[in-house]
Amino acid sequence: MEFFDTHSHYNDEKFNDDLEKIIKSTYEAGITKFTCIGYNLESSKRAIEIVNKYDFMYGTVGISPNDINENFEKELEEIKEIARKNKVIAIGEIGLDYYWNKENKELQKQVFKKQIDIANELNLPIVIHTRDASIDTIEILKQNTVKNTGIFHCCPFNRELIKEGLKLGFYISFSGNVTFKNAKPEMAVSEVPLDKLLIETDSPYLTPEPYRGTRNDSIKVIEVAKKIAEIKQVTLEDIAKITYENAMKIYKL
Ligand code: NI
Repeated sequence: MEFFDTHSHYNDEKFNDDLEKIIKSTYEAGITKFTCIGYNLESSKRAIEIVNKYDFMYGTVGISPNDINENFEKELEEIKEIARKNKVIAIGEIGLDYYWNKENKELQKQVFKKQIDIANELNLPIVIHTRDASIDTIEILKQNTVKNTGIFHCCPFNRELIKEGLKLGFYISFSGNVTFKNAKPEMAVSEVPLDKLLIETDSPYLTPEPYRGTRNDSIKVIEVAKKIAEIKQVTLEDIAKITYENAMKIYKL
């Protein structure tokens, strides 16, 4: 079996001490493709540095709604140049987060839209981060067509958001949160047809059961796949194969 972890952050400092080791063991465990997702200028540069060393890793670059500073216009120019010249498969993670930042909604929308323009210009999909901002996120996607669509990463269990996202042609990615003890992911997962389904870890965060409390890594994407297979009533092999193929398709690999 081979797995594709569509969202991880090996550019996080929590991996500084054993990055090579963890990437090697992840690959050997059957996670034969994974991403390194940028969330600000620095982490985007670091993502490229890492993925350039491994032909089975791919990078994304972007400014997340929680990483907007006063230099964002200049930073976006740099991000665009990086995306143009490197092994970048998407613009992200980008979007809206009203859970952590309620005070700058208009700015968040502006930065999100600018990055949709960059994705369209470079013919790339986007990776969306949305938290407590479903309505505005869908509104922006309706008004600003994303040519290559993209992925709702760590998708909230919100059926309306999922329905609207699917209508717009987006893929839905679930993370370790489907395994959490008090989570009720069944309705949300059922809403997503198999050909739009993706799995991710969001490493080093969102560690799935039974490993909660430890650092997450891409090997644990298998726990996410197991839970989804159970909900969808298909085999783990099916989920591995389908989500791998979907990831290759949306990331155009
Ligand atoms: Ni992330």
